[in-house]
Amino acid sequence: MSTFALPVQTWQSDVNARYAGSLDEQEQTILTRDGVQLVCRLMTPDDAPLLVDLFRRMSPETRRRRFHYPIDIVEEDRLLEDARRLANVDNRTHGGAVVALERAADGEHIVGVARLMRPAKQPKAPEVEAAITVRDDYHGRGLGTELLRRMVLLAKRMHAKTIVAEIEADNYAAIRLFRELNLTTVSTTSHGETTMRMEVPA
Ligand SMILES: CC(C)(COP(=O)(O)OP(=O)(O)OC[C@H]1O[C@@H](n2cnc3c(N)ncnc32)[C@H](O)[C@@H]1OP(=O)(O)O)[C@@H](O)C(=O)NCCC(=O)NCCS
Repeated sequence: MSTFALPVQTWQSDVNARYAGSLDEQEQTILTRDGVQLVCRLMTPDDAPLLVDLFRRMSPETRRRRFHYPIDIVEEDRLLEDARRLANVDNRTHGGAVVALERAADGEHIVGVARLMRPAKQPKAPEVEAAITVRDDYHGRGLGTELLRRMVLLAKRMHAKTIVAEIEADNYAAIRLFRELNLTTVSTTSHGETTMRMEVPA
């Protein structure tokens, strides 16, 4: 046996153990690092208004990092239309998402979303494209880490083989977050964009 073989096998079994199990329909609880309790569940098409609320509360920097171009002024009709499109997921074929919700006195608010999308005409494509957003006031509290771990389980539920993330090359927080998933990853950078292709564990 080569000296390299054992660590690789050990690492692979650690990864398989970390992503064992599945993501079911039931709500779960997420605790932020500072002890705030959030609800986590799969997205449904009814979440469109909550996505509008999230968008309104995102800083210009977070919007730009998420959508890769500055979006500051958006007409109300357009906002709801886009939110309906983004909420149109079935968590099996063309798209899925995991959301984290805060239950406040004034109602529910989505504070984080990890999303996986396939091209509309390829509902069984082996690749899914990932995107993640955490509302600014929750940054650095461990929510992104929790959502991405569940996003890997969502990828398994969607029978995806590869998760592809396109991230601005200087978005170190996001690149580090995806690296910490510890999946077998090939990264390339071109024209200011880093593409990470990650193998979904069996
Ligand atoms: C990237 C993003 C999702 C991280 O979410 P988060 O909830 O803050 O992440 P976590 O709290 O789990 O932090 C994970 C790591 O990210 C890094 N990080 C998070 N926030 C950071 C900040 N404000 N500054 C520097 N590093 C930060 C840290 O390295 C942290 O590592 P640690 O676990 O050792 O502390 C969030 O910053 C975000 O929504 N950004 C805008 C959208 C975006 O960039 N999406 C990616 C492209 S689709």
